[in-house]
Amino acid sequence: MNFERHILCIGAGYVGGPTMAVIANKCPQYKVTVVDINPDRIARWNSDELPIYEPGLEEIVKARRGKNLFFSTDVEKGIQECEIIFVSVNTPTKNFGAGAGMAADLQYWDKTARQIRECARSDKIIVEKSTLPVKTAQAMKRILTCEDNGIRFDVLSNPEFLAEGTAIRDLENPDRVLIGSSQTPNGLRARDVLVEIYANWVPRDRIITSNIWSSELSKLVANAFLAQRISSINSISALCEKADADIQEVARAVGTDSRVGSCFLNASVGFGGSCFKKDILNLVYLCRYYDLKEVADYWEGVIRINDYQKERFILKMLDALFNTLADKKVCLFGFAFKANTGDTRESPAIFVARRLLEERARVVITDPKALQNAMIDMEGESGDISYVEDPYAACEGCSAIAVMTEWQTYAGLDYERIYRSMVKPAFIFDGRNILDHQRLFEVGFNVFPVGKPGLTHF
Ligand SMILES: NC(=O)c1ccc[n+]([C@@H]2O[C@H](COP(=O)([O-])OP(=O)(O)OC[C@H]3O[C@@H](n4cnc5c(N)ncnc54)[C@H](O)[C@@H]3O)[C@@H](O)[C@H]2O)c1
Repeated sequence: MNFERHILCIGAGYVGGPTMAVIANKCPQYKVTVVDINPDRIARWNSDELPIYEPGLEEIVKARRGKNLFFSTDVEKGIQECEIIFVSVNTPTKNFGAGAGMAADLQYWDKTARQIRECARSDKIIVEKSTLPVKTAQAMKRILTCEDNGIRFDVLSNPEFLAEGTAIRDLENPDRVLIGSSQTPNGLRARDVLVEIYANWVPRDRIITSNIWSSELSKLVANAFLAQRISSINSISALCEKADADIQEVARAVGTDSRVGSCFLNASVGFGGSCFKKDILNLVYLCRYYDLKEVADYWEGVIRINDYQKERFILKMLDALFNTLADKKVCLFGFAFKANTGDTRESPAIFVARRLLEERARVVITDPKALQNAMIDMEGESGDISYVEDPYAACEGCSAIAVMTEWQTYAGLDYERIYRSMVKPAFIFDGRNILDHQRLFEVGFNVFPVGKPGLTHF
């Protein structure tokens, strides 16, 4: 079949895989190839067991794979065949050298740029999908054009705003698509090509264009604002617990003000995920680089509150369980950083599990989709850890349950049965405020939500 366009995506991860699956599904006239240097990941994209879990993803991949959606390890061939390259490689926080623990590690990005330059035989539009420090497009352009090989490269910024757990819905029906380009005639022409691709399914008024630096920066700022709301409500949850107020009542009263809005006001054990912390650190690093100390300190506070919230959670457990967790079995309900994903990157559950082990507790982990990743995360940790799929079996003989992930399934369990199988007194720490606390108290549990007074029998 003759395709109208050949699109390549470098990086078959949580962003590259779903994004390209949706483009292939919405645009059968395009050939979409996703490449990755990780052969296991590609093998899984080509198998019945996809490497990531996202509601709705499997159906789309199975419908388009082999027709206009292809997964391959042949990066070179992919580069040669396509005209548009989305780059969706990982950009984690650097853990060595200058900027360690703050700056973005751009080595994968840099290597990709060099590989594109070496393999390209015709003009390409390069689309930054990864989240990057502002001005990275300039660096990319410099790498791509340092040798005059007669090939034109136009670099666009098109940050991805999908949220894991709702990625397919977000991609099919985005609040907005942002495309940043240089304002030169070539830059604007490249931008229009990308606008046309999205216009296959996204209404034009939701496709926003901007200058390229605004686009790069907007992604960092969007994540910083989202995380800031979580830290804001979590900071108030600490005050509610002292003042006998109820954080859900406060959040409702505040969030019904249309100027504030109600989203992202759920108090919890803290935010996780691969992006929020990394992107804020990146923003803080940029501000320090430009000598904006006050601005950097302001945003760093969002991370400080998140760390404080996770530590507070552990200290509350320790306090409630009579100041010793040694040898007590504690079951973590959920290990994923949020519901409807198997992703555990930066999950608060990792922190809580490690701290519990430090207190010599015996940790039992259960999760509907993230047990494999949990095992990888906890590899090498010393102490008593077990992984149990069935939540009922996981709770047997435990002194406490800690809800780490807001999986709906945990709200619907038979807590009378669970209570009977646990060591008494039995405790529940609801790190996501998803359970019926009064009901659990009546069953016999001592219940500790986030941001409200605990319900205890003594
Ligand atoms: N995960 C999210 O929810 C999300 C949302 C928006 C934006 N982002 C951003 O998107 C980018 C990718 O995130 P992700 O979660 O998909 O990461 P990921 O780690 O799941 O996937 C990245 C993939 O890139 C591959 N890769 C690295 N270098 C390569 C190279 N030179 N050639 C080919 N493949 C290479 C890796 O093997 C990996 O499979 C990051 O910058 C992230 O900040 C992520």
